[in-house]
Amino acid sequence: MTIIGASDVEKARGPILVGPGDVVTPLARDRAGELGIELRYGGEAPSPPARPVGGPVAVTAPLSSQPGVDLANALYRRGAPVAAAIAPGRPREGAGRPKVAVVGAGHVGSMAALHLAEADLFSKVMLIDVMEGLAAGVALDLWHCASVGGFSTLVEGTTAFSDLADYDYVVVTAGRARKPGMTRTDLTQANADIVGPVADQIREYAPESVVVVVTNPLEEMTHLTQVRSRFPPERVLGMAGVLDSARFCAFVALTGVGRPDEVVAYALGSHGPEMVIPLSQATVAGRPIRSVLQSEALAAITERARESGAEVVSLLKSGSAYFAPGRSAAEMVCEMVSSRGLLLTCAVVPNGEYGLRDTRVGLPVRLGPGGLTEIVTLTLEDEELQQLRRAAQSLSERIHAVG
Ligand code: LAC
Repeated sequence: MTIIGASDVEKARGPILVGPGDVVTPLARDRAGELGIELRYGGEAPSPPARPVGGPVAVTAPLSSQPGVDLANALYRRGAPVAAAIAPGRPREGAGRPKVAVVGAGHVGSMAALHLAEADLFSKVMLIDVMEGLAAGVALDLWHCASVGGFSTLVEGTTAFSDLADYDYVVVTAGRARKPGMTRTDLTQANADIVGPVADQIREYAPESVVVVVTNPLEEMTHLTQVRSRFPPERVLGMAGVLDSARFCAFVALTGVGRPDEVVAYALGSHGPEMVIPLSQATVAGRPIRSVLQSEALAAITERARESGAEVVSLLKSGSAYFAPGRSAAEMVCEMVSSRGLLLTCAVVPNGEYGLRDTRVGLPVRLGPGGLTEIVTLTLEDEELQQLRRAAQSLSERIHAVG
């Protein structure tokens, strides 16, 4: 007995012979009708089994040519897996939707891939990991979510960077995570040995992509990626400000003054001790944050946001945070694709903004399909500006030490 599936039909170049006892899946029959592939029943095989009541009608001409037949919607209603190419209301695969790769299929990479798939903005999310089977397994598990998650973005896994040819976006999460007691900077050498070669591969196979770096220490690894890829600065962005700002908003909401999404704040400076959250720019439901919270409470919240990565590490004991980091990285890529004009903070190379040059530092930016479009100059108070400049100076020394 042979089971003839939709992929067999898609591969067929002529009539398919269905022998006695062979099984043709319902989706394969639909695809055959759609593609005009004849299913030729031979031997003692009975005529094709009756279709379920209400299912698509049996046809010999492609279903899509039948008046009034909405094939893809019919498949959706039946709950069958629908190839992105025929999903209703979605741009077809390869016809306009960008592709995004996630390097590293650990926790952060998996979460980023999930959110990128659920956004349904991409034709494909490709997970890459050196560990045989890991990316493929995570990708398959994620793709199983497609019908309940309502997305048609294909999710695949690979070990080969050559599968990244012509990808538009690459999120780099590969690297070691902190253990309790470690600073992010303690990871510099180990993660440089991973991120450097990754950047070489991105340069070779996805030379037009925009890269979002998540691996720690964040600014150093983003700088290394830019140096090794030789991409222009607007195409290599460090993810941290989105995460650190989100943590601040989450902690403000715990005080009861508003919902997390009513808090607006921008974490600038470093993804580490030199993080600067200018309170002059922070609001809760449109009100200045200093009018709703005391300065002691704000200082404590800022400190907790700054140290919250380590707080998670010490609770988990093994591994580091991944829900919010993965979500934040995905948010950056989605903003590039959808260009909603959001003000996000990312680790970028300033060109004189805030009086800064020759460094890589978290600043407020706008993103477009090709990466960074604008570094936005906020009117900071003097002390905030001085803190930001000190952060930029310290980061300049650290990134140049990496090379
Ligand atoms: C953290 C890692 C992503 O802050 O640095 O959780």
